[in-house]
Amino acid sequence: MGLLTVHPAARLHGHLTVPGDKSISHRALMLGAIAQGTTRISGCLDAEDCRVTQAAFEAMGVPIQWRGDDVQLEGRGLRGLKASPRPIDLGNSGTSMRLLLGILAGQSFSATLTGDASLSTRPMARVTHPLRRMGARIDGAGDANLAPLTIRGGHLTGITYTLPIPSAQVKSALLLAGLYAEGTTTLVEPVLTRDHTERMLAAMGTAISVIGDPSDGRTMTVRGGRELTARDFRIPGDLSSAAFWLVGAALRPGSSVTVRGVGLNPTRTGFIDVLRAMGGRVTVREAADESWEPRGDVTVDGGPLHGATIAGPMIPRLIDELPILMVAAAAAEGRTVIRDAEELRVKETDRIRSMVSNLQALGTRMTVEGHAVVIDGPTRFRHGTVSSFGDHRTAMAMGIAGLLADGPVQVEDTACIRTSYPAFPATLRTLSKNH
Ligand code: S3P
Repeated sequence: MGLLTVHPAARLHGHLTVPGDKSISHRALMLGAIAQGTTRISGCLDAEDCRVTQAAFEAMGVPIQWRGDDVQLEGRGLRGLKASPRPIDLGNSGTSMRLLLGILAGQSFSATLTGDASLSTRPMARVTHPLRRMGARIDGAGDANLAPLTIRGGHLTGITYTLPIPSAQVKSALLLAGLYAEGTTTLVEPVLTRDHTERMLAAMGTAISVIGDPSDGRTMTVRGGRELTARDFRIPGDLSSAAFWLVGAALRPGSSVTVRGVGLNPTRTGFIDVLRAMGGRVTVREAADESWEPRGDVTVDGGPLHGATIAGPMIPRLIDELPILMVAAAAAEGRTVIRDAEELRVKETDRIRSMVSNLQALGTRMTVEGHAVVIDGPTRFRHGTVSSFGDHRTAMAMGIAGLLADGPVQVEDTACIRTSYPAFPATLRTLSKNH
């Protein structure tokens, strides 16, 4: 899957499901591995990112069986993991590395974590430094900022910590370390980020309390020492994957796409709010009986879109959807301004640079001032060749831009799509065919 060639499509049509939510799938695998008992996960994302999480826990002695999208694993309890006989390679997956550091901080053995070229440049001090404060010993280049990292866990003590960056990965790593710590770990989150870990820990019997008004941040407290009880998880579809089709439909009048059974956790639905603010015709039908993670069906009908401002506490609620929202903004009428999204600089690639370079290559008028992005639409995308920059979401966003272009768009280096959505190219062909 090197080169993806996308042909213009008059409209997008169809009902579909998308693979399981990546964030939730990682967490189900990890928490299942350290729970007591058997965990069954249905609808788990079968993509490279989650497979590295699986391999990491198998190397630490957790039996994991994977059949289609169903996974069964035999949890080892908080202290039942074994040292891996070799360094643990986490490929491209920032979620795996950051959350695993939290779990390893509580183990009595040492482990070395490595990653691919992209992951080896991503900042880890945001996790390793507070974990050191809890008592973990961690070594790596740049004062434990860059993989390879070697961590020796041990006797942790709970801390009180205000998250300096809105990051669910950092929050989750510290909550997981908190399971092993003596006393309580209290995290203050001034800007709300995805709360899948908190929901899952509560569902597995952890002593966790979450207080505060979501619009104003939250404070979480977890008490260490209590084992997690295994349970079954049904993973909702990934709204971040659905977003590609929903934007594709929104931008093509006459289109209609429904994605069924997709996750609707309010910490993740900023994308829907912004699409509506841009004039998008979005219908959401939430399923009635989901207490653990909300889910439902989302339909988008095509029609004119206009620009919007995307900034502030909204950003973590749609951080992974910003590449595809930049495509929407480029095609929409008028100006879109994106501020406060500097975290895009340290994703699988610098997603401000990758998207600006690609969208400009297809004729978009856009500028970057500091970390702010200003896009002046509407653009009629030109045909041409763009690059994934090794980043799955850049690749897929440009695939959708290709549907709207005046001729074929070639996206180079698209093997990275396998990290989160291996079926994307096939679904792209199905949804845009014969309409
Ligand atoms: C994720 C959190 C976000 C997101 C990433 C997945 C998670 O990263 O961009 O794709 O699963 O917790 P940050 O925590 O770095 O913001």
